[in-house]
Amino acid sequence: MIELEGLTKRYGEKVAVNNLSFTVRPGIVTGFLGPNGAGKSTTMRMILGLDHPTAGSVRIDGKHYHQLKEPLTYIGALLEAKAWHGGRTAYNHLLCLAQSNGIARSRVREVLETVGLTAVARKKTKGFSMGMGQRLGIAAALLGDPRILMFDEPVNGLDPEGIHWIRTLMKSLAAQGRTVFVSSHLMSEMALTAEHLVVIGQGRLLADTSMADFIARNSRSYVRVRSPQRERMLDVLHQAGIVAVESGDGVLEVDGGKAELVGELAARHGLTLHELSPQQASLEEAFMQLTAESVEYHAHSETSPPPPQQQWGDGWKRG
Ligand SMILES: Nc1ncnc2c1ncn2[C@@H]1O[C@H](COP(=O)(O)OP(=O)(O)O)[C@@H](O)[C@H]1O
Ligand SMILES: [Mg+2]
Repeated sequence: MIELEGLTKRYGEKVAVNNLSFTVRPGIVTGFLGPNGAGKSTTMRMILGLDHPTAGSVRIDGKHYHQLKEPLTYIGALLEAKAWHGGRTAYNHLLCLAQSNGIARSRVREVLETVGLTAVARKKTKGFSMGMGQRLGIAAALLGDPRILMFDEPVNGLDPEGIHWIRTLMKSLAAQGRTVFVSSHLMSEMALTAEHLVVIGQGRLLADTSMADFIARNSRSYVRVRSPQRERMLDVLHQAGIVAVESGDGVLEVDGGKAELVGELAARHGLTLHELSPQQASLEEAFMQLTAESVEYHAHSETSPPPPQQQWGDGWKRG
């Protein structure tokens, strides 16, 4: 279990992490979601004792990181992907880590096998691709067989096969009863992986909820209706007490799952339909709306605020 209490980090004027309190529980994958610059990596570094909080505290199974004896056996982490300059082989890299942390040598082979690097174990890591580097980082995280695992944007730079592999690995680690905390700036990725969701924007907590709840609350279902007799269609819907909004291009959006009813009303009044399609608003959209106000930099002037999607996109690209 990881417990954050009022965790805060300032860099000069900049508040990177702002009074964060939440708990990451064992047995499930907890997603840590937020746009670039939201404070995810800073939070994770503070959990690992690599950065000192300006205020607040983090506990790992009740203890501060520096109180843990042989910390790799409590918590394993993959931090943000870095280029590999290693002159060491993958095997030796892991062996050094094992020896300095009181971990059995036999564990090195096991984790190399788990991450699929056995065939290149004797190769120098400087020749590794991004994906191989990520796998080696994950092997290091798993080395001490820790009960808590933390991955910072682990799918960045991976091919679809690698992404699928990481997703499956995280779920199986959670199914073994471990605490799994994984960050991403992609809602779509979290929706496929995480059972619980912590969302931050500009260092602040925006949501701490189960994925099922987030989906139930945020995925609006509606029906797209197109008719060459749009005005009459609107009248008919209105008379039937159905709320429809015009969404541009002559498309009407009818809230709720009312496709059959709309089709029957159209037939009864002799109206032609060119489209009648049930839709589900995307989770990505819900995420964008939730975080829109907290995205740091907007490319547009203050007099004409851009739509949320645009704001998100602008914040997105920041490194
Ligand atoms: N060492 C640092 N010095 C100054 N500012 C930093 C430092 N590390 C991070 N920041 C700032 O803190 C904010 C949060 O960064 P980060 O934790 O990397 O966000 P995320 O991982 O969510 O993209 C950003 O505005 C970033 O520029
Ligand atoms: Mg980051």
